[in-house]
Amino acid sequence: MKNITVSSIKKKKNQEKITMITAYDALFAKLFDGEVDILLVGDSLAMSFGGEKDTLPIGMDEMIYHTKAVCRGAEKSLVVIDMPFGSYDTKEKALHNAIRAYKESGASAIKLEGGIEKAETIALLSENGIAVMGHIGLKPQFVRAEGGYKVKGKEEGEAQSLLRDAKALEESGVFALVLEGVKAEVAQEVARSVSVPVIGIGSGSQVDGQVLVWSDMLGFFEGFTPKFVRRYLEGASLIRQGVREYAKDVREGRFPSEAESY
Ligand code: KIV
Repeated sequence: MKNITVSSIKKKKNQEKITMITAYDALFAKLFDGEVDILLVGDSLAMSFGGEKDTLPIGMDEMIYHTKAVCRGAEKSLVVIDMPFGSYDTKEKALHNAIRAYKESGASAIKLEGGIEKAETIALLSENGIAVMGHIGLKPQFVRAEGGYKVKGKEEGEAQSLLRDAKALEESGVFALVLEGVKAEVAQEVARSVSVPVIGIGSGSQVDGQVLVWSDMLGFFEGFTPKFVRRYLEGASLIRQGVREYAKDVREGRFPSEAESY
């Protein structure tokens, strides 16, 4: 795989499906690098690795720390950093924090949640040379305000407002959009209505690419498995098995052997 850039992602629209997974550290970024187009340092980090109930508690400093590590591990895949909750609630704050993200983390693009109401913010970031990935549909940063994670596109009017959001974000300059938790028929309509790639999560197959949280798809996170996740590995059992064998070897005097000693 060649080095992936923001413009090579844009060119994949209607040509080739885009692949994206999350990454939160250098070790795993190195393993994933070049296997997928985009590594997203998602604020899902707060839940999958921080043990939080939702994504809201994580801050800018933590996101930057983890993104720096991912950038050290990734040479080919494009690295995108999620803007955490509260870091872009005003245009000025968004610009300040996005510049920090660019300067301090080394990521090639930022991602933020929101539709038409964030269009001016995205336009300001774009004008200042920051590549923005939008995120509409189910927006995890709204979980407390909405009282849970709700699939979009089921209710009257939701399809129209998603189309309006996608169009506004396209006009404001996003290079791609994440579309989360949207009924498959509506997601297909959204993908068809804009010229930028629409990367789905829980939004069916008729979009321009897919994203999953790596610890979900590799079976490391056992808390729950959402309907839209396919598990490609039973990571948690493999890890547990390895750790148990190590502990047994230590307890029974089989580790270290002579060959493993100085
Ligand atoms: O934080 C995250 O991991 C995300 C993806 C689920 C798209 O935003």
